[in-house]
Amino acid sequence: METVAGTTAVIVAIDGPSGTGKSSTSKAVAAQLGLRYLDTGAQYRAITWWMVHHGVDVTDPAAVAAVADKPEIVSGTDPAAPTITVDGTDVSAPIRTPEVTAKVSAVSAVPEVRTRITELQRSIAASAAGGIVVEGRDIGTTVLPDADLKIFLTASPEARAARRSGELKGADVKATQEALVKRDAADSSRKTSPLAKAADAVEVDTTDLTLQQVIECVVTLVQDRRGPQVLVDGERAGR
Ligand code: DC
Repeated sequence: METVAGTTAVIVAIDGPSGTGKSSTSKAVAAQLGLRYLDTGAQYRAITWWMVHHGVDVTDPAAVAAVADKPEIVSGTDPAAPTITVDGTDVSAPIRTPEVTAKVSAVSAVPEVRTRITELQRSIAASAAGGIVVEGRDIGTTVLPDADLKIFLTASPEARAARRSGELKGADVKATQEALVKRDAADSSRKTSPLAKAADAVEVDTTDLTLQQVIECVVTLVQDRRGPQVLVDGERAGR
């Protein structure tokens, strides 16, 4: 794995609701700094896709819990080309359908699902020797509470809906906003590791920022956190 010369591995947790620019920011920051990248929402979507594909009633937590350990989910962590497979099938497109999006909050609220996916996330982060950017909802609070840097991205519901509608190519902004607000409410109010800002996270409100500005802000925060280690030999203090 390529890392910037003279730096040590760094673990960056980026949390926040949907439409705040988490994925675009996390991928770009990881690519710029030579880190791996993990989209944890894609993992919850993948397990949801598997449940739907196998006819599991996702409104029944006991039915979901009973099969939570069945699907084999594999995430590729190259920020230039992240991948996700379930039992060997590439699911990067089907996990973005409106059906999976509507059902993912129910599946991801089941404790057995969270335990399984959290273990997977921790093992991926532990094996990313050069460091990793992990994006999600509970990374700073639950999955990686010892992360070197925690960022919590926010934006107004209007800005988030406008961005999401753009991504979904012309979807109705009002309907998108209603769906987003509903999903965030479900994700924030569930009992097991809800969407939440860690006490030591840096909050960045992206409402009036361009994507480039958000990326620059996070890159600067990571570099600040890495401290003097970013200096290459010969530039170290005292020489
Ligand atoms: O980031 P996303 O919209 O692709 O995430 C899909 C869903 O997955 C989201 O509604 C909540 C859930 N999720 C979660 O519960 N915990 C995470 N760390 C990431 C996502």
